[in-house]
Amino acid sequence: MTKIICVCGARPNFIKIAPLMRAFHGNSHFETLLVHTGQHYDENMSKLFFEQLDIPKPDINLEVGSGSHAVQTAQIMERFEPIVLKYQPHYVLVVGDVNSTIACGLVAVKLGVRLIHVEAGLRSFDRTMPEEINRVLTDSISELLFITEKSAITNLQKEGINSHKIHFVGNVMIDTLLANREKACQSEVLSSLKLQPGEYVLVTLHRPSNVDDPQNLTAIIDAFAEIQKEMTVVFPIHPRTRKNLKNAGLEAKVSGMENLLLLEPVGYLEFLCLMSSARVVLTDSGGIQEETTILGVPCMTLRENTERPITITEGTNRLVHATTGDILDKFRQCQALKHAKDIRYPELWDGKAAKRIIRIIDEHFRSGHAYKD
Ligand code: UD1
Ligand code: UDP
Repeated sequence: MTKIICVCGARPNFIKIAPLMRAFHGNSHFETLLVHTGQHYDENMSKLFFEQLDIPKPDINLEVGSGSHAVQTAQIMERFEPIVLKYQPHYVLVVGDVNSTIACGLVAVKLGVRLIHVEAGLRSFDRTMPEEINRVLTDSISELLFITEKSAITNLQKEGINSHKIHFVGNVMIDTLLANREKACQSEVLSSLKLQPGEYVLVTLHRPSNVDDPQNLTAIIDAFAEIQKEMTVVFPIHPRTRKNLKNAGLEAKVSGMENLLLLEPVGYLEFLCLMSSARVVLTDSGGIQEETTILGVPCMTLRENTERPITITEGTNRLVHATTGDILDKFRQCQALKHAKDIRYPELWDGKAAKRIIRIIDEHFRSGHAYKD
């Protein structure tokens, strides 16, 4: 029996861990312990995803909550270490690029436990992003690196990672999307918000570079003020952004916009339904760039770079400077676009990534960890 601790902590982690937990449970060679770090804790940032995606209730919740990078990372490490010592796993598996990813990864390798990183090798080459630091460090200590797109191979090789450790398996986030697409279509979110398909813009924002600086946030909000004069803007707001909107004194301005629907974060199924029928999606999320590519919906990413270049070269994504002028220019261009009819699915984004991952871990374990340096 292969014993494996699976870690999740923040919203995008839940979406990535869901198909992996299902695949582990369908394979009698594995015994899992699911650890939730508690990095995200609001009901609509955490519990709702476990319910909608049928993720087993975490065996342990570390309940770390929010804090500075150092405090959050340190607390996760402190609370995760005794669990690894007690459970004695063969592997620890982490997903994505959040603080929970690197914190639990470090604990694992310092205790001599092999680390598996799902969604390895993505690089924005922007080290001012906390996620980029988490990615580079997690990859450097992982023994099995599962990648979603081939750009990751070059990125990892340049950092001196042995290519035997790298496995191109596809995208677990897309496993979840394809598994839930039909269910999401049945959501009543459009009628409850009185929205017509193709006649609204869907927005999400939470990157520190966009929302922590009041000037940058104001420039973006000013663009929304113009857009909502032409088309309804639907904005399920991330708690970081909600807090910053208040701190920047922008709350009244936003609530005064007649055609902007400011919502609490919505569940996965509702969000997938909203994305599928949006005219344009405007975001700074990592995962949403990938999801819109599969849905064929134009995506404007309010960033200077992306770690997911395939969503531009093969998908519907484009980068937009987070200035009022550029957002409005690109919005007008995107608005004119039709939803892609012939959607190009990036290689291996076929709903089977989790199965591939589990098969490779199984082989790795049985081979007596053949790929050790
Ligand atoms: C984190 C990840 C980011 C990821 C995002 C997904 C890091 C460094 N950042 O950013 O990579 O894209 O999650 O959503 O790991 N808050 C709540 N309730 C919650 C969670 C957070 O109110 O359930 C508020 C708190 O005020 C907190 C702030 O949001 O301080 C930021 O939360 P945090 O987890 O530190 O970072 P995110 O911006 O969510
Ligand atoms: N999402 C959601 N509800 C929302 C906003 C986003 O379910 O109100 C989903 C979205 O479909 C995607 C994931 O959350 O699967 C992306 O998470 P987020 O943008 O928080 O993190 P990132 O991908 O940027 O790390």
